[in-house]
Amino acid sequence: MKKFAYQFLFALVVFNYILLTACSSEENPREVTDFNLDWKFSLGDFPEASEIGFDDAGWRGLELPHDWSIEGSFSEDHPTTPQGGALPAGKGWYRKAFSVPENYEQKEVWIEFDGVYRNSEVWINGHYLGKRPNGYIGFKYDLSPYLVYGDSQNLIAVKVDNEAQPNSRWYTGSGIYRNVRLVATGKLHVDHWGTFVTTPEIDDRQAMVSLAVQLKNSSKEEGEFSLVSRILDKDHKEVAKHESTGNLKAGQNEKIEHSFQIENIKLWKVEDPYLYEVISEVYQNGQKVDVYSTPLGIRYFEFDAQKGFSLNGVSMKIQGVCMHHDLGALGAAVNTRAIQRQLEILKEMGVNAIRTAHNPPAPEVLRLCDQMGFIVQDEAFDAWKKRKAKEDYHKDWDEWYQRDLEDLIKRDRNHPSIMMWSIGNEIREQFDSTGLVITKELADIVKALDTTRPVTAALTENEPEKNFIYQSGALDLLGFNYKHEAYADFSKTFPGEAIIASENMSALATRGFYQMPSDSTMRWPEAHDIPLETGNDAYAVSAYDHVSAYWGSTHEETWKTIKALDYMAGLFVWTGFDYLGEPIPYPYPARSSYFGIVDLAGFPKDAYYMYQSEWTKDPVLHIFPHWNWKEGELVDVWAYYNQADEVELFLNGKSVGVQKKQGDDLHVMWRIPFEKGTFKAVSKKDGEVVLEKEIHTAGAAHQIEAIADRTEIDADGKDLSFIKIKVLDEQGNLVPDAANLINFEISGPGKIVGVDNGYQASLESFKSPFRKAFNGMCLVIVQSERAKGTVTLLARSEGLEEDKVSIRVK
Ligand code: GAL
Repeated sequence: MKKFAYQFLFALVVFNYILLTACSSEENPREVTDFNLDWKFSLGDFPEASEIGFDDAGWRGLELPHDWSIEGSFSEDHPTTPQGGALPAGKGWYRKAFSVPENYEQKEVWIEFDGVYRNSEVWINGHYLGKRPNGYIGFKYDLSPYLVYGDSQNLIAVKVDNEAQPNSRWYTGSGIYRNVRLVATGKLHVDHWGTFVTTPEIDDRQAMVSLAVQLKNSSKEEGEFSLVSRILDKDHKEVAKHESTGNLKAGQNEKIEHSFQIENIKLWKVEDPYLYEVISEVYQNGQKVDVYSTPLGIRYFEFDAQKGFSLNGVSMKIQGVCMHHDLGALGAAVNTRAIQRQLEILKEMGVNAIRTAHNPPAPEVLRLCDQMGFIVQDEAFDAWKKRKAKEDYHKDWDEWYQRDLEDLIKRDRNHPSIMMWSIGNEIREQFDSTGLVITKELADIVKALDTTRPVTAALTENEPEKNFIYQSGALDLLGFNYKHEAYADFSKTFPGEAIIASENMSALATRGFYQMPSDSTMRWPEAHDIPLETGNDAYAVSAYDHVSAYWGSTHEETWKTIKALDYMAGLFVWTGFDYLGEPIPYPYPARSSYFGIVDLAGFPKDAYYMYQSEWTKDPVLHIFPHWNWKEGELVDVWAYYNQADEVELFLNGKSVGVQKKQGDDLHVMWRIPFEKGTFKAVSKKDGEVVLEKEIHTAGAAHQIEAIADRTEIDADGKDLSFIKIKVLDEQGNLVPDAANLINFEISGPGKIVGVDNGYQASLESFKSPFRKAFNGMCLVIVQSERAKGTVTLLARSEGLEEDKVSIRVK
């Protein structure tokens, strides 16, 4: 039996964002400045734009993070192809003039980019700083040798080249789409990504914490220092401290190790993600010269070949979803609130784990997973040396794989949420002997930087002798994508191996569209006979859980399998949300995926409630479809429920029968002739009513309802309110096929930054102040400006009563 136990704890290099805005140098000598404001941008290539004297007066002013692809119009002819979202890519340049205080001359100053898609090249005051092909990894450049100080202006220029296409199997976005910071520290300082915290021992009450700090002396003189490390609990109370002194030569970079004992520990759990913080203070001649914060969560976990996964000694299934990085209408441009909203919606469904398919995520994703209690599989690559798309990362592989993988581990290894490193998704090298060497090499790179988490890969070849990544013996945890029928034999096929289903389902659905009969399963492409051009239903896929890609399954099929097999650590559903690109099963104008449990606008599809009924302890009763059909037509009514023995369905007050889940059933169904009116479901336990749900036949569209997810947002120019728009009849019922064009008017300190309706084949712009409803709903996203006040969003449509919401910006 191969058993992989990880009894460690981790902390976080993180997070500059705690310090996102410049801190007063009194308090903290490390100044971290949000560097997203006041950039100039132009599409196209301008080789002279790297020079200080270049005239960018005609360029557009903007604020980062910025994704220019999402601003474009859809076309089948864009080189990105519909697979990449059918949006434009190309080249673009960014420039920013800035000054730095005189005292920065005594400091070490660098710029940090969290990710630029892709092939970024950076210049400061005309000096070339370097190139980074990988669009998902963070990087920094030292600026000190080239800066001018005081009133003089510095000029940073960034070229982004996303022209060679297709370079991805999904939508990537283009530009400086993640955050940028300017960091200034004392010459003697904690290096970039310079801490690593582990917990070599944890028992019920106490933990040993081990901290490694990489201290760097970038001055020209030898320096004595003292390093003080403190561990603070959630209430900022010091719970442990360690101090040491030493000496660093000019240019020296040295690892200093501290260890601590913490009593009465609070563990990091999915339900209660308790976070400590490690503060490292550097002193020179009695003066504080740097302060660095490393969040920390104490937990231990194990992937076991017989018992599956456990966290802090408690067995649990990993109930995960795969997520690509786009944020729907906002494109790839990082926004913390938009990521948080996605995670909130998933948490409410019962998701406890995220796989960052198939690339390093934004740091904000990991910070939120730490705070909200998600387990993370952090993934490095979708391709190695062998390509998947003509212009993808295989071209950069030889030169960059080592650096990119090392940087991923250094950047992320302090996140308590991360419990698996994936070195690749469905990598071609699994099929031939080249996989042996590369797998070993990549696993060694990871282990040299972190031995506390398993190295895994998402494999597809499940014949052991034909899978060379498996044959390398270098994986600690086997990940398998799809092939759920084979899982029951895996304990024999892969004896002694810990196994997770790294990607599953690829079930397909469009919110609010239903095709009968619902009990016949359709596998694309063999059986998928949905007409392409039927008005509102064109390019839609039925949302009963009965359509999937041929390599996958319905949601229920795989979940039943995983649920029944103790040795399977859990699964990651493909995908949590719909994402831009990969619009299987349809051709253009389909341009976003159908795989999500939640649509692109963030509205749950019905399968969401199947998971909720299985994965949460809250009582659930969800019934569908809508109740607008032709008189007499046979309609399949489904119910997902839990915490009840049975569900009774009533049509216009008359019972049409009681249904109970049998065996491993995950839903119940009635097939009844449609009759206009109300159908009502009642779930009961021991004869007592648990929940009741009603759906009414809707009349003509009459009014708009606008519902904001938050009516108070911060005046920071970043925060968002997501406003759901519903088209209702006079009685307040959702009109299930409403497609009214809704116009938005906004006043006050806010702006509309995106609109969507979740329809996978809509060619409307994500950036207009209007949107057609799709199956009764659409979404408008409002962002605060940097001013307090009240934003009013008015939603109107011809022939409908309008509605408005007010949002306090504070
Ligand atoms: C998988 C792949 C994913 C996505 C999915 C669609 O094979 O890993 O990236 O393409 O198929 O079903």
